[in-house]
Amino acid sequence: MVVVFSSNFAYLWYYINGDNMELKDVILDRRSIRKYKSDIVREDILLEGIKMGVKAPSAHNRQPWKFKLLSKEEKDKVASLLEDKTKDIPLHSGPHTASVIREVPHLIMIFLDSSENDDREMDILSVGACIENMILYYTSMGLGTIWIGNTNIINEEIKDLLGINYDTISSLGIGFKNQEPHSRPRKEFEDVIL
Ligand SMILES: Cc1cc2nc3c(=O)[nH]c(=O)nc-3n(C[C@H](O)[C@H](O)[C@H](O)COP(=O)(O)O)c2cc1C
Repeated sequence: MVVVFSSNFAYLWYYINGDNMELKDVILDRRSIRKYKSDIVREDILLEGIKMGVKAPSAHNRQPWKFKLLSKEEKDKVASLLEDKTKDIPLHSGPHTASVIREVPHLIMIFLDSSENDDREMDILSVGACIENMILYYTSMGLGTIWIGNTNIINEEIKDLLGINYDTISSLGIGFKNQEPHSRPRKEFEDVIL
């Protein structure tokens, strides 16, 4: 009875208010931010983002993720390792990403905890869903984020630096925005619908 009532209520809500604009605004407002103010974000907000991340769906509910919120020293070291690794590779975006890592006040490393199975592809998809949840939460709090895949190429160096035996899947920079970039172009809608 309660279920019937609540689903009817949800339907009525949808009818009166249209779709969930608040979430839609967050999705539409999100941008990759590469310039940050130096102000620090409260740690409980940073941790709440991880709590929202782990609410994401995951294949077989394996929840194949681990997180580490880096100290400033660790973050700067990650930037230097990335810079060293990529400075001699032409056209690699590593050095630019390294300067973003130096500027962003907080970096959360996201690791793949795939030890219990070998379905790596599914687990990577699950971690991606988790990261997007985190990003949408931080965006809803008025913060800027930058999803960083480039740190994967220093996977071994990060293991040594942090004494952690998980593979880096991505890292996520979080802070107060110091830019308001335009939305980057998307492919035409007609071109992506088959
Ligand atoms: C898996 C993944 C890896 C990414 N890695 C990087 C990165 O290493 N450095 C960077 O500056 N941006 C990185 N980005 C951000 C993309 O460049 C950005 O999402 C894309 O250009 C679209 O721009 P928007 O996020 O502002 O919509 C990454 C995004 C994703 C999803």
